[in-house]
Amino acid sequence: MIRLLGIAGSLREGSYNLALLHAAAALAPADCELDVVAIRGIPLYSGDVEAQAGIPAAVHTLKDRILAADGLLLATPEYNGSIPGPFKNTIDWLTRPPTDIGRLFNDRPVALCGVTPGMGGTRYAQLAWLPILRQLGMRPWFGKTLALSEAGKLFDAAGQLQEEKVREQVRAFVAGFVRFVAQPRS
Ligand code: FNR
Repeated sequence: MIRLLGIAGSLREGSYNLALLHAAAALAPADCELDVVAIRGIPLYSGDVEAQAGIPAAVHTLKDRILAADGLLLATPEYNGSIPGPFKNTIDWLTRPPTDIGRLFNDRPVALCGVTPGMGGTRYAQLAWLPILRQLGMRPWFGKTLALSEAGKLFDAAGQLQEEKVREQVRAFVAGFVRFVAQPRS
């Protein structure tokens, strides 16, 4: 069984990116368990907060969930052509203390996806993630792109993907990433 953790980089209750990950979990292949988490409850990073109060409980919990996963699926919203601040803030907390970076991120498979009400499919935000993945020494999968536009037309009121064509795209994306995660390292 391949265990994936999907992290939705939005604080919004009705987040399209969170909905996309829930859809991906439902469409994942039988040999994959995709857990979904949102980035709630994490304060803004400050060295003072860290020195006085240590690492927040929500960050510890997220670290444990990352450690339990074989790979990460990051669903990134796009703000001003880049990564939303709260998502970057989450990654910054996860890299504290820096001695945790190795066990959390080094060589861990990762894939990016995203959905936006706009027309650009979060492509700029996905590109903006690349230097961070490199910095953390992760193992990115670029086999397929999942960059969905016009989110308002994709989901029904219950947050389900309406079109079979889009469901098939999500299914193929997750299946491809699962194969990448499962392949033995040489
Ligand atoms: C946006 N949005 C947006 N969308 C996009 O495709 N490209 C962009 O550059 C931006 N920029 C942007 C800036 C700011 C400050 C906000 C608040 C929003 C729209 C954004 O994609 C939309 O709010 C999504 O719904 C956010 O994702 P979630 O929260 O639905 O997952």
